[in-house]
Amino acid sequence: MSSNDLDAILHQADTDRGRLDGAAIGPFSLTALGIAAVVGAGIFVTTGVAASQYAGPAVVISFIIAGFAAAATSLCYAEMAAMIPAAGSTYSYAYATFGGFLAWVIGWDLLLEYLFGGSTVAVGWSGYFVSAMESIGITIPHDLTQPPFGDDAGIINLPAIFIVLAMCGLLAFGTRESARANNAMVALKLGILVLFIVVGAWYIKDANWQPFLPANEGGFGEFGWTGVLRAAGVVFFAYIGFDAVSTAAAEARDPKRTIPIGLLGTVIISTTLYVAIAGVMTGMASYKVLDVADPLTAAVRAAGPSLDWLEAMLSIAAVIGLAATVMVVFYGQTRILMRMASDGLLPDWMGKVSGKHKTPVGATAICAVGGAICAGLLPIDALANLVSIGTLFAFVIVCSAVLVLRRKRPELERPFRVPALPLVAGIGILAAVALIAMLPATTWIRLIVWLLIGLAIYYGWGRANSRARMASLGD
Ligand code: ALA
Repeated sequence: MSSNDLDAILHQADTDRGRLDGAAIGPFSLTALGIAAVVGAGIFVTTGVAASQYAGPAVVISFIIAGFAAAATSLCYAEMAAMIPAAGSTYSYAYATFGGFLAWVIGWDLLLEYLFGGSTVAVGWSGYFVSAMESIGITIPHDLTQPPFGDDAGIINLPAIFIVLAMCGLLAFGTRESARANNAMVALKLGILVLFIVVGAWYIKDANWQPFLPANEGGFGEFGWTGVLRAAGVVFFAYIGFDAVSTAAAEARDPKRTIPIGLLGTVIISTTLYVAIAGVMTGMASYKVLDVADPLTAAVRAAGPSLDWLEAMLSIAAVIGLAATVMVVFYGQTRILMRMASDGLLPDWMGKVSGKHKTPVGATAICAVGGAICAGLLPIDALANLVSIGTLFAFVIVCSAVLVLRRKRPELERPFRVPALPLVAGIGILAAVALIAMLPATTWIRLIVWLLIGLAIYYGWGRANSRARMASLGD
């Protein structure tokens, strides 16, 4: 790292505060932003698979384990974000710690987490939206709800395109407006999930929790303790997104204090919520019937017709809640792209900020177009593992950056310090590497191909541009 790079990044963070809406988001809205990004398809969908195929009711323990891994990483994010409150988040930390080359690699990798991740959630939103419409008698033709490729091909996924464009439109309109809308959507989503916990708790049948940890059925991951671990890998997806809080650094009030609050608040609230939901869900219905796309609804159905009203509310929570997830995940992507463009790694127009709305309109436009193409046309399920590996790779970089900067730049002001280093960062790195190891080899190959494409762009265009830009800032 050159200290020029770090100084230039700190200088850019100040510039970004001036051109964006500098103090638009307070600690409450920041936490809501994190919860919006985190609580999405993971809890609404993957919990059922994790319980029914791998862990049984002990999926509760899997959520606690995954929560520890997320907490360790979020502590590292908190130290980096408070020290370098830049909109580029992991990309900027990588720049400050390892220099321009690795920053490009991680910025390119973050497209997987944010652009593909947001598009995946948009497809999930489309599924819930289509069935909510059906429940009120409106049928959207199948061909207009499926991409042209994949197992269940149609022509185009129009609802997914709609939600991407609507959320990007809101983001372009204003950060304050987006944060306010997000607060309302998160309040509704959390309110209904808490209602599920409180009401569902009355319908728990002890027999469903017996045995709490079903015996291993022979292979690794088929129930028993290895099943609990495997389920932890699956449900980790539900924790992805808390890092979006750190991309709000240039728009947060007093970011050195509020970004750590937002990050840690998000992980604490989500972990508590997930553990309670998993406990209630597996108590209401046998884990064997939860192998469906909407396990929370399946649990409510098992309790009988008296809870039909709760089933309807869960669909509302999913439709509204997933819309908020799409919005915040794309929010994170726009800030990272804006920063990369301002550094010269992407074309200038992507870094353009609207003087009137104080939002990065260039980056938001490219997210709207890219997201609409991905969500509307690609069989996005196939990319879900790429989202996970891309995110985990970024987590390794952030936890390592904390360790490296503590050694190389001990004098830097750290408003928040990770406790018990190197243990905590070590847990973050180990957990991420272990989860990467559990992903199929095809996912690693796809990641490598993706990174090779990124390298070609870097050497073909980005390198020379970014060097010139950083040099001029360092002068
Ligand atoms: N954690 C986010 C979700 O579960 C990505 O949808």
